[in-house]
Amino acid sequence: MLSVLVSSLLQVALSVGAPTSFDDLPALAQKRVVEPYSNVVVFDPPGKYIVPRTLYARTMALSDQQTLYATWENYSPEEDDDLLVYFPIYRSTDLGLTWEHISNCTDQVMGWGLRYQPFLYELQEQIGDYEAGTILLSGSAIPTNLSNTQIEMYASRDQGLTWEFVSHIAAGGVALPNNGETPVWEPFIFTWQHQIVVYYSDQRDPAHGQKIVHQVSSDLVNWGDVVDDVAYDVYDDRPGMPIIAALPNGQFIYTYEWYGAPEASFAVYYRLSSDPLSWIDAPAYLVDGIDGTYPVGSPTVTWTPYPADNPNGTIVVSGSNLGGVFLNTELAAPDSKWEYRETDSSNQYTRFVMAMPDAGQVMIAGGGVLNGESNSVTVSVIQL
Ligand SMILES: *[C@@H]1O[C@H](CO)[C@@H](O)[C@H](O)[C@H]1NC(C)=O
Ligand SMILES: *[C@@H]1O[C@H](CO)[C@@H](O)[C@H](O)[C@H]1NC(C)=O
Ligand SMILES: *[C@@H]1O[C@H](CO)[C@@H](O)[C@H](O)[C@H]1NC(C)=O
Repeated sequence: MLSVLVSSLLQVALSVGAPTSFDDLPALAQKRVVEPYSNVVVFDPPGKYIVPRTLYARTMALSDQQTLYATWENYSPEEDDDLLVYFPIYRSTDLGLTWEHISNCTDQVMGWGLRYQPFLYELQEQIGDYEAGTILLSGSAIPTNLSNTQIEMYASRDQGLTWEFVSHIAAGGVALPNNGETPVWEPFIFTWQHQIVVYYSDQRDPAHGQKIVHQVSSDLVNWGDVVDDVAYDVYDDRPGMPIIAALPNGQFIYTYEWYGAPEASFAVYYRLSSDPLSWIDAPAYLVDGIDGTYPVGSPTVTWTPYPADNPNGTIVVSGSNLGGVFLNTELAAPDSKWEYRETDSSNQYTRFVMAMPDAGQVMIAGGGVLNGESNSVTVSVIQL
């Protein structure tokens, strides 16, 4: 009786095309779901690469829900002037199990190399001359001697195969994270009210060792004034590494690290706002794990509509001190619970969390640790 029931349920499942095994990968790709996996190698650099070899991995899921992209800081040896560093572009059409090197985004205007902190983003709507579906890449052009930082915007109109320079966003000084130097760092791209917003860390204001700011553009070419997002009264404080995720209640969560936080240097904090252009007066909260742990350093955040019976979905935050991630199913409301969840991914510098096409699946991408001598680029997918 039971086996009859099971087999008739199986028939129903097969007739609606539900996957019955994770081995059927093409079918699963159509289903946008993948069996969770750990530490798939995207790129293992050759021995001649310069320490830290790779760092700061970033991924992006195209709106077709089938195609993923990855890039990272790539410490290739700069043996000739024409071999300046660049951001490699890798693509996966099987939800991250295998990757293909499809292009390099190279410095087309400064002659310095695209060196630090790339971020990939798909245009959601036409902006200026750029159609919806254009892939944007922001990152910093920096000379080999680190004398300058220049946050740039590049674009691909052919799904990542070729890249064109779009505009300069912010120019800063020496690429060292010391107070008194004037670099700009770590761009993050977002869309708000038919405009593109780029958030980044900024050491140019003599009143702050570092603060976090944004600039807005309605055409990707002209950028508006620098607006403060997070700036502390204490000069030595260094808030940095801004990332935003949209929440289903109309609010946005803005995570950042805060050197100067009472709990720990670079403890991970967040703010909430219904206006992603207005953060400076929003209260700040620690990502405070219920087990007493909390993330420290180089945070990233994403949101996934899971579990299905909770309209809040789940916010996922990663920090660089722990292999696990912090989960919140209460819209990060003040005093809400952050649960620590172990993963098979090791702790890495600015490890990137990204909601996968299937609700409840999250990709964790890492490029290794600061000063790492054996860094490589890996991705893992967890199931909440
Ligand atoms: C990327 O650049 C490297 C170094 O110049 C080159 O060896 C490689 O073929 C390029 N790859 C692609 C896909 O353009
Ligand atoms: C650093 O490199 C840039 C680009 O090659 C060059 O213009 C600049 O003069 C160099 N600065 C120093 C201090 O060497
Ligand atoms: C959703 O979040 C709110 C706080 O913003 C919380 O009060 C509520 O209990 C949460 N709902 C569920 C089902 O967890």
